[in-house]
Amino acid sequence: MAHQDAASPPAAVSAAAPIRISGVAKTFPNGTEALTPVDLRIGEGEFVTLLGPSGCGKSTLLRIIAGLTEPSAGTVEIADEQSRAFVFQDPTLLPWRTVDRNAQLLLELEGVAKPERRERAAAALDKVGLKGFEKSYPRNLSGGMRMRLSLARALALRPKFFLMDEPFSALDEITRETLQDELLRIWAEEGFTSVFVTHNLYEAVYLSHRVVVMSPRPGRVERIFDIPFAYPRSPDLRATPEFTALGAEIAGCLREIAQ
Ligand SMILES: Nc1ncnc2c1ncn2[C@@H]1O[C@H](COP(=O)(O)OP(=O)(O)OP(=O)(O)O)[C@@H](O)[C@H]1O
Ligand SMILES: [Mg+2]
Repeated sequence: MAHQDAASPPAAVSAAAPIRISGVAKTFPNGTEALTPVDLRIGEGEFVTLLGPSGCGKSTLLRIIAGLTEPSAGTVEIADEQSRAFVFQDPTLLPWRTVDRNAQLLLELEGVAKPERRERAAAALDKVGLKGFEKSYPRNLSGGMRMRLSLARALALRPKFFLMDEPFSALDEITRETLQDELLRIWAEEGFTSVFVTHNLYEAVYLSHRVVVMSPRPGRVERIFDIPFAYPRSPDLRATPEFTALGAEIAGCLREIAQ
């Protein structure tokens, strides 16, 4: 299967890649070396997934890309600084706010005027299938619906870059697969660039143009897999021999680096 060395830039991505990660390393103040220099170029509209064992620095790298954590070395250049959205594993909803008002939260923080806020939140809720639940409270939603709301809250920002840290890991398998399909549909409609973190390799293969396999701590880019399946991807893909074979190859790579 096609792959490349960590050092060589991906052929499909031009030098004008909107996300350019150069020599990014992170050592925390307590001395934990989380990342050794990471270089990665991410193309416009690309769906890239960071995959690796627990503690390999996936969240740290994503948070550095998002500007939430300072790297100890290296730089992250992002073409459009303004339009980033971040989704965490925990939906982090405000329990005292309705669905509708949760969806407006980030727009409020950005100072977007009320009529536009309402319109954008309504469109985002519609996109994630929460139309009709506007006046419900988070406590009345299932886990999958809470994650949909978390996605809607981020989508309302109309991001150009969407950064997601294991957003579906707490969900059951069927809900997870449904949300993977919905995320791909929304991504195709909106055209944002996605950086997604997971330790589920089948999720990584299903969603991505490229899967970046990271080594155990201190994390670095071990190998990059190009995923050859055309979009739009259909749920049937998961049952094909090609999909299973690629999953097995990546599993082998993960086993190798774990040793
Ligand atoms: N604020 C911090 N201070 C000190 N060490 C930290 C801090 N945040 C993370 N680490 C350490 O850095 C390493 C990488 O952590 P990180 O959360 O990025 O891993 P991860 O790949 O996202 O793991 P998981 O799959 O379990 O979420 C771990 O050893 C972790 O303990
Ligand atoms: Mg993590």
